[in-house]
Amino acid sequence: MCGIIGYIGKKKASELILSGLKKIEYRGYDSAGIAVMGKDGIKIIKGEGKLREIDEKKNFLALEGDIGIGHTRWATHGPPCERNAHPHTDAKGEVAIVHNGIIENFSKLKDELIQQGVKFETDTDTEVIAHLISKSISKSKDIEEGIREAILRLEGAYALGIIVKGVRKLFVARKNAPLVIGRGEGEMFFASDITALLEYTKKMILLEDGDFASLDEGGCTIYRIGDGQSVRREQIEVTWTAQMAQKEGHAHFMLKEIMQQPQALSAALSADVKDAVSLLKNSENLAIIGCGTSYYAALVFEYLMHKQGKGASSYIASEFNSWKIGNEDLIVAISQSGETADTLAALKDAKNKGAKIIVITNVMGSSITRVADVSIMIGVGPEIGVLATKSFLGQLAVLYKLAYTLSSNEKMLEKLFEAPAKVGEILRTSKENVQNLSDELVKLRDFFFISRGIGYPCALEGALKLKEVTYLHAESYPAGELKHGPISLLEENVAVFAIAPLGSTSAKMGGSIQECKARNAKVIVMSDDEALLKEGALTLRMPSVPEELVPLYYIVPLQMLSYFMAVKMQKDPDQPRNLAKSVTVE
Ligand code: F6R
Repeated sequence: MCGIIGYIGKKKASELILSGLKKIEYRGYDSAGIAVMGKDGIKIIKGEGKLREIDEKKNFLALEGDIGIGHTRWATHGPPCERNAHPHTDAKGEVAIVHNGIIENFSKLKDELIQQGVKFETDTDTEVIAHLISKSISKSKDIEEGIREAILRLEGAYALGIIVKGVRKLFVARKNAPLVIGRGEGEMFFASDITALLEYTKKMILLEDGDFASLDEGGCTIYRIGDGQSVRREQIEVTWTAQMAQKEGHAHFMLKEIMQQPQALSAALSADVKDAVSLLKNSENLAIIGCGTSYYAALVFEYLMHKQGKGASSYIASEFNSWKIGNEDLIVAISQSGETADTLAALKDAKNKGAKIIVITNVMGSSITRVADVSIMIGVGPEIGVLATKSFLGQLAVLYKLAYTLSSNEKMLEKLFEAPAKVGEILRTSKENVQNLSDELVKLRDFFFISRGIGYPCALEGALKLKEVTYLHAESYPAGELKHGPISLLEENVAVFAIAPLGSTSAKMGGSIQECKARNAKVIVMSDDEALLKEGALTLRMPSVPEELVPLYYIVPLQMLSYFMAVKMQKDPDQPRNLAKSVTVE
């Protein structure tokens, strides 16, 4: 998704903005640009491709001045190209803006502006905003008021950064899109993502939806967009460091984040779940929501709740239908970024209907924490690789702790606290085998992941990891479902991962493995059951672990396998094509 950043102070704006934009490259983008206000007005450098490519051709640092804004674009309106890259300006080049989000009423506004004689240079919705602001400030005596009035006309989602020729200020606004203000010593910043600013400041001011702010070197003034009333907002001190967002000697962030999982688990297991447990104890009806990997974590929690005899249903957030939700209900929302638009929209709807909300996230002050009654931070540190790896383990750790604290299951809590050491052991002992497996499997093109019970969310996550990063076809089924259709796809050179821990599901998993072998599929058995391991064409031997904790452990070699295969196939594991780290559009 798009990333935005801005700076006002005494330093060279283009340098700080370029460096900040590089920190949020992981969000995924196809073009980028920077605008700086110098002695001769606003100058812009932008283009298609990665920052490094644009910089090599055009040299961002040629932009002189100490006020500026920057953007990485993930195309929505119009193809990725220099023309459509941000910043966008009004006709005279006196207002420049960067925008993250989608303006839903942009065609109506565009028609209106065309009738007033405005000529459009781009296909973007954003250009409309630059022209609207330009017209509005030319009519208004007060610059803030002029900008606010223009923003009032926008419908949809936006995080905006604006500079105006001759005005020593940065202007920002947010609605349904992430935006933080960073406070430095005699300098101020804004960004769509805390990680862009970590090198410069830890002091972040969290804007609310519907806020508009003007920033100068000394601070910021915040207003409500709706009525122009000035408001105060909380300032937090983030605990993440710039170093946490570095590769620290690893070839890729994905590898670093996989290898870091023992520490990530320890941090997540220290999360305070007391308030969430009281809400869970008193809830009548429990819905668990999330998207992608976070949804698979939701499935694990649903399973654990059912095991305790507690009614719970998990939903993919974009499919969550809250028509039955009322004030007796409790929603548990899981989101690494805390900014996923689908999750946020479902939560806002449920909140309006009176539901109580627990959120489990990794990002302090993120949007979903603002609608929560209780927030639990998984505390695994910044996850820069686009794929969720350590955040998934962090989510699971918190969810298991929540479930076992709720049921006062001391024995399982004790087992759970062994997870950091055990994951460390799996990382050490399975690496070589996983690397060998990746040599074999990289020759194949179709992968199925099957399991039963609590192993099924792990199979789903295994398939998601593999397809996201290698672009190979990978899908997952409950093992029992194979024979109801998908088995028709099995033949030689189709790989089937059987997640088959010794326990209540192993006998039936044995049957499914035989069904796959009979169709000549290449079965890779992941198990601690010697009898089942013998049936695999390839094997991934796992340590014996409590059956309920299988997802926490079995996903680790599958993450590594996806990583090794991507590297062998020369795919970028940190920024897979078409994917974004934080999906801020519905
Ligand atoms: C998978 C992945 C995505 C996210 C999904 C939800 O590797 O990263 O499937 O899990 O987009 O994101 P969050 O957890 O930020 O809400």
